[in-house]
Amino acid sequence: MKVAFFDTKNYDITSFEPYAKEKGIKLKFYETKLNEDTVDLAKGCFAVCAFVNDVINAEVIDRLCELGVKLLAMRCAGYNNVDINYAKGKIDIVRVPAYSPYAVAEHAMALLLTSVRRVHRAYIRTKDFNFSLNGLTGFDLHGKTVGVVGTGKIGRVFIDICRGFGMNVIAYDKFPAKDSGIDYVELNELFRRSDVISFHCPLTEDTYHIVSSETISQLKKGVVLINTSRGALIDAEALLEGIKARHIGAACLDVYEEEGDFFFEDLSGHIISDDILARLISMPNVIVTSHQAFLTNEALENIAQTTVDNIITYSKGEKSGNEINT
Ligand code: NAI
Repeated sequence: MKVAFFDTKNYDITSFEPYAKEKGIKLKFYETKLNEDTVDLAKGCFAVCAFVNDVINAEVIDRLCELGVKLLAMRCAGYNNVDINYAKGKIDIVRVPAYSPYAVAEHAMALLLTSVRRVHRAYIRTKDFNFSLNGLTGFDLHGKTVGVVGTGKIGRVFIDICRGFGMNVIAYDKFPAKDSGIDYVELNELFRRSDVISFHCPLTEDTYHIVSSETISQLKKGVVLINTSRGALIDAEALLEGIKARHIGAACLDVYEEEGDFFFEDLSGHIISDDILARLISMPNVIVTSHQAFLTNEALENIAQTTVDNIITYSKGEKSGNEINT
């Protein structure tokens, strides 16, 4: 059984190849992303395996169907880059709903600690034997209020971590978890009260630009924003304005609205065409990692095994429980 594997990185080959071989699946690795121009590479394949920045729109779905591809196996949890409604009844889709909520939640806390204790600045200074402490004053997380938007698998692990730091946790979720012991509040109250806000909800019509110039004005002055979810939760231009106005204290971004053209690539030595991204990165109180939160050995192993198992289960006509549109 052949599977076209798009947007391949070295770590994908390392984690997928042995398990796929063991299970009798032949992976055809392509570095290119899946889109209208590359979809024909899936010719002769039973399934395609795609990731967060592949473009799976109506045109791509139609062409996959014409090529006889039966299954779209997403090797990620989020699927906002797939036209789900259009895919219904045309191609089946599976995903990896959970591979390591710890990986993402721990990365969110790593970004927060780096930011509030200025580790990113100190690291660069001491590399140059600059041992000055000027400008490195941080603040204690203990006793601060953290607002968590989205209390699913990742949000809950993040809540536990924050409680371990002695933070006061409040949360907003469109579908609050009953009897969870989580202190739910309305979104505008969370925005108003939080010293730190971390986003762990999916990107949907409701959450698109949940942080905009309008909502930024409701935030506490000096708030730290953490986004390890999807870039378009935050209007990047409004964020930049909020930082320039010194209303937002810091931003920790593992995702960016227009990340598709930049993240996962080595663009050192290139001129970055996105002025907003370049300006954000230039700010001393903005930390950007390039969609790295999932990247742990444990997560990669789970992603590879679940994706391969999803394909095998589907090929036998059975359900894995990881179907999206069926
Ligand atoms: P989950 O499905 O377990 O939890 C999502 C939570 O968001 C649910 O409790 C849901 O009720 C809530 N929600 C849905 N609509 C909402 C809304 N309009 N407002 C507030 N909350 C809403 O998902 P999980 O596994 O916790 O992942 C969360 C997000 O993290 C994913 O959607 C994905 O975008 C992102 N992610 C990022 C990764 C990275 O490497 N940066 C890796 C994996 C996931």
